[in-house]
Order: sequence, then structure tokens, then C-alpha cells
Amino acid sequence: MLSMIRRQRPRRVPLRFTGSLGRELQGGLTRHSLPSVRHVSLQLPHLPAAWDGLKVLQISDVHAGPFAPVKRLQLIRRMAQDLEAELVVFTGDQLDRRPSDAEIFSRGFDGISAPLGVWGILGNHDHLTSTSLAVRSLESAGIQPLVNQSVQFEREGVVLSLTGVDDLSSPGEGPDFSLIAEQENTFRICLCHQPEGWIDAAARGAHLTLAGHTHGGQLALTTRRLNVARVATRYIAGPYRRENAFLYVSRGTGVGAVPLRFGAPPEIDLLTLRTPAMYRSRVA
Ligand SMILES: [Fe+2]
Repeated sequence: MLSMIRRQRPRRVPLRFTGSLGRELQGGLTRHSLPSVRHVSLQLPHLPAAWDGLKVLQISDVHAGPFAPVKRLQLIRRMAQDLEAELVVFTGDQLDRRPSDAEIFSRGFDGISAPLGVWGILGNHDHLTSTSLAVRSLESAGIQPLVNQSVQFEREGVVLSLTGVDDLSSPGEGPDFSLIAEQENTFRICLCHQPEGWIDAAARGAHLTLAGHTHGGQLALTTRRLNVARVATRYIAGPYRRENAFLYVSRGTGVGAVPLRFGAPPEIDLLTLRTPAMYRSRVA
């Protein structure tokens, strides 16, 4: 079995809209107003025993803006903090598309922390808004940008590396997957906003790639088959495996152009990384 997944019921946050369109939005947003916590246990063949049980919280596609205002983001930040993950990662599209979204994001997540740090990459909407503003909004919240950069963590003499690559849509030099291959003798985690980047990340030795971008389809009749995101990628949501390389795609917390979700509720993802032996003993 690839993974165990457990969901907690979402909490609601009051939002107020007026008029008939407002009532539509009210229904769509309050129904899924706060993300649920998706608990996922991943069995990773190459994970060293020293890192067994590592809890990584993934927050993706926040899309700070009119449909993800400061108050909502502050509630998500509180949810995230209560989960006490050792490592927190933001996997892009923190901003929706307006310059003012940067302040909404940084105020919403201001002060978020984790023992191994809070790290963030950029998505296509971050570049669409402004690359420099998007980087600054991460920094203002106390989140460390990891854009074509790697960082290493050591436990019992065993090193785990985290590489964040720039988005495929970057107006700059684009994602530098070669950084992953440079992390020799480590367990290699890659952050890449668009799941299509997994192919390159895995080819460069990423054991686990974390992505977002799809919103789980956002408007989805079924999880994977009758799903809008299938037009762009076959990696829509959840865990995927190709030999010993794994991909996890978060449905994210926000909305893109259409401020509604159907069949793809928002989520934050608490990933527990397990070695095969520990995973077997846990599920037995
Ligand atoms: Fe997005």
C-alpha cells in the first residue's frame, strides 16, 4: 500500500457577501471555507531510519487575495501551527494576481514557525503578480524563500536535503533541477509547484517531490478521471509512485480564476515520512 490517508472535518469561518452572486459565493466559500487537514503516511524505500516519522506540513496554492483575506489566512496559520509539524513548506501560488495580495499573504502567515524552518517556492501566479513581491511576501511572513536553492538538515549524522526549484513558468532561468543531483548521499526532497516537474526532479534523484498547482481540479466530478486538471496533467492530487520516486500533489487551500470549489475541497497536508519497516509495523 502506498499510503494511508485520513481527513479531519473542516472548520468554518464566517464571511459576508451580499446580492445573489454574493450568496452564491457565500455558499461556495463557507462550505469549504477552511481547509481540512489531510493526514498522509508515505512509505519511502530510501528514507533513512534516522528520519523515520518526520512530519512535513505542506501548504499550497493559498492565492491570497479577495477570496483568501487576512483573517482566513490567519486561521489557516493557527491550524498549521497546532499540528506541530517539524518542517513546513509552501509549494507556490501564495499570491493570486494583484500586488496587494502580497501584504495579505504576509500578514496572514506572519510568524509561522517550525523546528526545521518554514520554506517556500514560487508558482505561476506568484510570477504573474511580481516575482520580487512574491519573494518579499514570503520573507515578510518569516518564510524562507527556497527558489533554485537547497538546504540540508542532519539527524544522527544522516542528512536530508530540501531543494526548491523555480516554477516552469518563471520568466527567469527556470527551474534548476541539477541542484537535486548535487545533494549526494542525502535523502532528497524537492519542492516544485507544477507536478509535471516531477519527471525532471525524479530523473535528477529526488526521492520525494511535493507539488500543488492543480487545486485537485477545483471543479471535479471525480477525483482523477472527470477532472478539469486532467487537461494539463495526469498528476491531479494525492500520492504517485514511479519505481522508487514519489510525488505528492496537494489540492491546496485557495481558488484560482473561479472562486468556487466542487469535488475538490481545500486542504493542508500533514505528511508523515516512514521507512518501509516502520510503516509495516504501524499498519499491521
Ligand atoms: Fe494555484
